[in-house]
Amino acid sequence: MTPNAGAARVRIAPSILTADFGRLAEQVRAADAGGADLLHLDVMDGHFVPRITFGDPLIAAVRAATALPLEVHMMVARPGDHFEAFARAGAGRLLFHYEAAGGVEAARELLARARDAGAEAGVAINPETPPARLEPLLAEIDEIVVMLIRPGWGGQPMQPELLEKVRELSGRVRAAGLAVPIEVDGGVKVGNASACVAAGASVLVAGSAVYNEDEMPGAALARLREALAG
Ligand code: DX5
Ligand code: ZN
Repeated sequence: MTPNAGAARVRIAPSILTADFGRLAEQVRAADAGGADLLHLDVMDGHFVPRITFGDPLIAAVRAATALPLEVHMMVARPGDHFEAFARAGAGRLLFHYEAAGGVEAARELLARARDAGAEAGVAINPETPPARLEPLLAEIDEIVVMLIRPGWGGQPMQPELLEKVRELSGRVRAAGLAVPIEVDGGVKVGNASACVAAGASVLVAGSAVYNEDEMPGAALARLREALAG
């Protein structure tokens, strides 16, 4: 166990990406009633990743359906263009990609702009981006997101070797005397949730583990919680 594990309650963040958008409010309320700690909304722009998902109107619709905190994972090429609209729609935390920022100074500026928009600010890194890139920014980041898959699609299997990056970042955060939460995104399931926490993650995004055809979101969340407790 890392010193991080167990230090804070692990939070589960269902991603609505694989939810049934035809009855979105109901699906959101099911995650809320099932004990979700926050919701993770995946915005894709067709440039940073090939697909397009949704923008501020849908964030506002989710905001109207729940009081849970909302974080927006911005898989978009120009994140700064959307901070204000997303914050106004109800996003409490804006997560942009380091790769979209294109360097430390640009990322620093985006972190400040996200805060100016009235939200918390986090940075996500793709599988190929080394954790060391975030080192100069640690004191300014409200949440780090380590992608455990190539972004763009839900339902992909986690690449377990990427947990090494979580371990490394968790060590860097501690060494800096900070407590920046580390979120993992991609392929989190009942069978690997504890390994994510042992590596140093304290926020788990769960897309297809919560929204799938086999069980209700509340039951799926309960199984995830159980796996973490056991
Ligand atoms: C994919 C998104 C994820 C996705 C995770 O690019 O960032 O948040 O919804 O889905 P699962 O948990 O199914 O991998
Ligand atoms: Zn995501």
